[in-house]
Amino acid sequence: MRNCWFATPGIARPMSIRCWSSRWRRMPMASDRKLTAFFLGFAARHKWRFLLSVLAMPIYAYLVAEAPNVMRRAIDDGIMAGDRAATIRHSLVYLGCMVGGALGLVAQHWFMQSGGIRTLTHMREAVMRHILGLGRAEYDKRPLGVYVSRSTSDVEAIGETMTAGLTNLIADTLLIVFIFVNMVAIDRKLGLMTLVIVPVVVVVVDIFRRILRPLYDRIRTVNGTLTSQINEVLGMHGVIRSFHLQGAFNRLFREDNDEYRDTNIKAVSYDAAVFSILEGLSFVAIGGVLLYIAVRATGTEKALQLGAVVAFIQWLQMLFPPLKQMGARFAILQSALAAVSKLETVMQIPLPVDEGTKSPENLNLTVRDLTFAYNKEQPVLKNVALEVPAGKSLAVVGPTGSGKSTLIRLIVRQFDLNPGGGEILLGGTDLREILREDLRKKIVLIPQEPSIFEETVRYNISLDRPEVTMERIESICRKIRAHDFIQHLPHGYDTVIAGEGANLSMGQRQLIAMARALATDAQILIFDEATANIDTETERLIQEALDYVMATRTTILIAHRLSTIRDADQILVLNHGEIMERGTHDALMTRPGLYRRMYELQRHAIPDQ
Ligand SMILES: Nc1ncnc2c1ncn2[C@@H]1O[C@H](COP(=O)(O)OP(=O)(O)O)[C@@H](O)[C@H]1O
Ligand SMILES: [Mg+2]
Repeated sequence: MRNCWFATPGIARPMSIRCWSSRWRRMPMASDRKLTAFFLGFAARHKWRFLLSVLAMPIYAYLVAEAPNVMRRAIDDGIMAGDRAATIRHSLVYLGCMVGGALGLVAQHWFMQSGGIRTLTHMREAVMRHILGLGRAEYDKRPLGVYVSRSTSDVEAIGETMTAGLTNLIADTLLIVFIFVNMVAIDRKLGLMTLVIVPVVVVVVDIFRRILRPLYDRIRTVNGTLTSQINEVLGMHGVIRSFHLQGAFNRLFREDNDEYRDTNIKAVSYDAAVFSILEGLSFVAIGGVLLYIAVRATGTEKALQLGAVVAFIQWLQMLFPPLKQMGARFAILQSALAAVSKLETVMQIPLPVDEGTKSPENLNLTVRDLTFAYNKEQPVLKNVALEVPAGKSLAVVGPTGSGKSTLIRLIVRQFDLNPGGGEILLGGTDLREILREDLRKKIVLIPQEPSIFEETVRYNISLDRPEVTMERIESICRKIRAHDFIQHLPHGYDTVIAGEGANLSMGQRQLIAMARALATDAQILIFDEATANIDTETERLIQEALDYVMATRTTILIAHRLSTIRDADQILVLNHGEIMERGTHDALMTRPGLYRRMYELQRHAIPDQ
């Protein structure tokens, strides 16, 4: 990260290169007031810190602008007048101004930052809580990256404003005002003439900003592309090598990398140009003031005293840095508003309403007359009816896209039923009337690719629930025959599983997910294609685990391999969202229907079954 050219000398405020790039998007005017309210809601808790910071600003600005004035008196009334006592007195006041100004500067930043950091913490917490509370349907609607950037970079952008942007903007404005008030008070004509500098600096800075803005936008975009290319290469390393795509990837990367370099060099050149022009301008201004004073001294008007000349030069030197930075400060504010509005969009995604309050009397599952469509036109399930008495097992089979996963999502209430689209009852109570928390405790879904945390095996099974003791974990793992392979891991149950379970086979991950589910009190376990991605050997392992599960809990199995469900109490055959056949394996095999056809097809396709 490189600092921007407009860091104030003396009062260093380093800002990253990003400060130019994203700051120039239009402010979301429409809901500014709402946004401010949203933001203030978080900031209000720390209002004392912000108030103290704002109170420190005029103190700082006043004292810093006053210092040249004190020096003027020390020179004119003390040194030039040969008054030693006055010189000492004014020098001490000067020292006081400087120390006081420095303390004011520290206070304004310290209080603003400590309030800002605390506000951000609350904001991040609120966003996280909201994201965690969102229903599955909302997750499906947006890419996950959106949530990531909301909770990280957007919050960060707001923080930058509160800490760097806002403090400096207010304090700098005050400083400029105080400097002009002082100048005009000493010499009205010269003070007003100096005002001309303001529009000149503003115009110069603005011209360059217009040139630099697209450049830095481009730099940011290309940088993003480079990052995602690197991510892609890391993630798809295997494919890239086996298909010999290295050359193509190298070429692509080189092109973007070159563009990144060229744009950066261009931007740096403009940066340097504007820096030197503004530096030059400040010297020209000082020279102009001296010239004017000299010309006036030869005329009839009263000449300026030496102390006043020195003070004017000091004020001019103080004036430039804050003037140069004004635009950048406003830009930071704008980007923060954009970030706040993005955060607010996330916060406005509705949380699922928990209208249920009841607890089911028993765990008999009934589905009646279920017709469901994700979007109005195309029903994914049509008139589905089924019954799973507590403790029994149900298997659902059918071609890809026949609606098996959808049926399960409805049973675990990841999605709600369409109005008038039938009903799902647990123990005779409609799912929607059951307390969601209760439902979660009673039904657990084990997805096809279970989520494994980069943690120990023990943690992955217990998920840190205190009631899940090591004895319980081991006893469950023995029952589902997972104990053997876990024992053979380098540290047994304390082995840390690599990212996304990379050091475990799919079947082993399934077994861990099963153990995790069995360690809960859930009495209904649902498996969505647990056996789809595994080899025959592992399938036998899983099969034994499933036998145990089926014997002890209510089980719903979606199965790809029909050999795994032979023992289910009931098998449903789903096709295009409709139940085509139902019965036990033996009963279904006696009929020349879809089930028997699928079963025989699989037996021939996979000879070792
Ligand atoms: N979130 C969704 N939004 C819209 N359509 C979906 C969604 N999920 C699945 N579908 C569609 O619903 C149908 C059934 O899908 P699914 O229940 O996943 O079938 P299966 O699990 O049997 O393969 C498919 O046509 C699929 O495209
Ligand atoms: Mg599916």
